Amino acid sequence: MAQKIVAGNWKMNLQFDEALSLVEGILEGNRPSDVDVMAFPTALYVHALSEKVKDEISVGVQNFSPKESGAYTGEMSISQVKSLGASIGLIGHSERRAIFSETNEDLKEKVDASIAKGFRFIFCCGEPLEIREAGTEFSYVKNQLEASLFHLSANEMMNGIIAYEPVWAIGTGKTATSSQAEEMHAEIRSWITEKYSSEVAQSVSILYGGSCNNKNAQELFACPNVDGGLIGGAALKPASFLEIINAF
Ligand code: 13P
Repeated sequence: MAQKIVAGNWKMNLQFDEALSLVEGILEGNRPSDVDVMAFPTALYVHALSEKVKDEISVGVQNFSPKESGAYTGEMSISQVKSLGASIGLIGHSERRAIFSETNEDLKEKVDASIAKGFRFIFCCGEPLEIREAGTEFSYVKNQLEASLFHLSANEMMNGIIAYEPVWAIGTGKTATSSQAEEMHAEIRSWITEKYSSEVAQSVSILYGGSCNNKNAQELFACPNVDGGLIGGAALKPASFLEIINAF
């Protein structure tokens, strides 16, 4: 069975003292032992936060370079973020794709660098509004996965993590309905079954993201193919994030 995961993507939010109190609040709260909790703060805070949370919460980065070292001003490598305590990174968040023009090819390079360095990742996919309105969301998302992820071997895909984040639901308060989420998650799992095997497909965690909050998480997480969430706004307060962690 796929691991249940609730991950907070803090984006470019929170001052350092606020980030510290957020993790303190999460650590003090009740967390079921079968749910992996992850936090993706700004990389600047990774060192301090990973020291604080020890093994209780995985601390990750929102972005990283696939290059090992060298003249890449402003970038950070996997080895560098690992040396600060990051154990996982996001790849292909829609904001990276749209605002920072990251292409499927760029994301494939990050996937390959992560595999080579033994660095876990959450691969994000999801369609923009115009694609949903045109009714071509399934082929759009399938193409994102085929272009950047499905070249991996079955072994490399085992226990992987995918986040389905429809762009029209991110930060808009407009959540996908549980049936829209389940429909896409079931498709994603069926593509993994076709490409690899049902054993691999059952081992991959497929998270939902996009205005997932303490009010709707329970209904979303009750869907058979929704293994958890990648949470933006509702991850910034301990109370709402803890409610989401406990929503299974
Ligand atoms: P919101 O939960 O704020 O919609 O953000 C979702 C997201 O982008 C998580 O990566």
